[in-house]
Amino acid sequence: MSETDSSLLTIEGVRAGYFPDVPILEGVALTLWPGEMVTIVGPNGAGKSTLIRVVMGLLAPWTGTVRLRGDDVTARKPHQIVARGVGYVAQRDNVFANMSVEENLELGALPLRSGDPARRLAEMFELFPRLDERRRQPAGTLSGGERQMLALARALMAAPDVLVLDEPSAGLSPIAVDLIFEKIGEINASGIAILMVEQNARRALGMSHRGYVLDGGRNRFEGAGQDLLRDPKVVELYLGG
Ligand SMILES: Nc1ncnc2c1ncn2[C@@H]1O[C@H](COP(=O)(O)OP(=O)(O)O)[C@@H](O)[C@H]1O
Ligand SMILES: [Mg+2]
Repeated sequence: MSETDSSLLTIEGVRAGYFPDVPILEGVALTLWPGEMVTIVGPNGAGKSTLIRVVMGLLAPWTGTVRLRGDDVTARKPHQIVARGVGYVAQRDNVFANMSVEENLELGALPLRSGDPARRLAEMFELFPRLDERRRQPAGTLSGGERQMLALARALMAAPDVLVLDEPSAGLSPIAVDLIFEKIGEINASGIAILMVEQNARRALGMSHRGYVLDGGRNRFEGAGQDLLRDPKVVELYLGG
């Protein structure tokens, strides 16, 4: 039995790019275990979002594989990945601004194979009371933090067992950053695995079971979140001394 059999997500040997002969990812590997929180950090342009796009089926890799619970899902369509229990929150434009909070959430329930969307909606309003207060407001009128909460809740509507988050704290006020990280912690504590990319590297690694440092499209470091935070090389090169 290979070690990938019980993993939730396994990425192996992924090479990918947007133009022929211009690789952005040059052989990336990553594993996510059920219930785990894993953060990917690394400089701007390292290929973090590109890796997320490969996982979500938004970009087909040139070589390498993406497996979900051992099944090869490389280059499947995004909706097929979502249908297999992977929720995704993109870095930008992750809500429909002209639709109400409630309508955004209802759209999120579309991939829900079993379970009751109305009940799911009630659960989301319990987890995010702020959204309940604003349920009839267009999403475009929400603050940055509220919008990000809506994007999280929308992804959760489909009852995923892993959430993939691309820079969930980007552009938020310090108070909103606290709130978003608190919610991400609660979501993970409820048993949902989290794979996130974060610029707020110390904070994200500090709350993650494990982390990966990606640089120049390659794996540079990986380990327990706390160990990476204490690794002098990681600190010097990636966490700003
Ligand atoms: N849609 C795209 N078309 C062409 N190049 C892209 C595209 N998206 C990203 N890139 C390039 O790929 C590299 C990695 O980008 P990205 O994966 O967004 O890095 P990160 O998320 O780590 O900041 C960068 O050089 C970026 O300019
Ligand atoms: Mg990015």
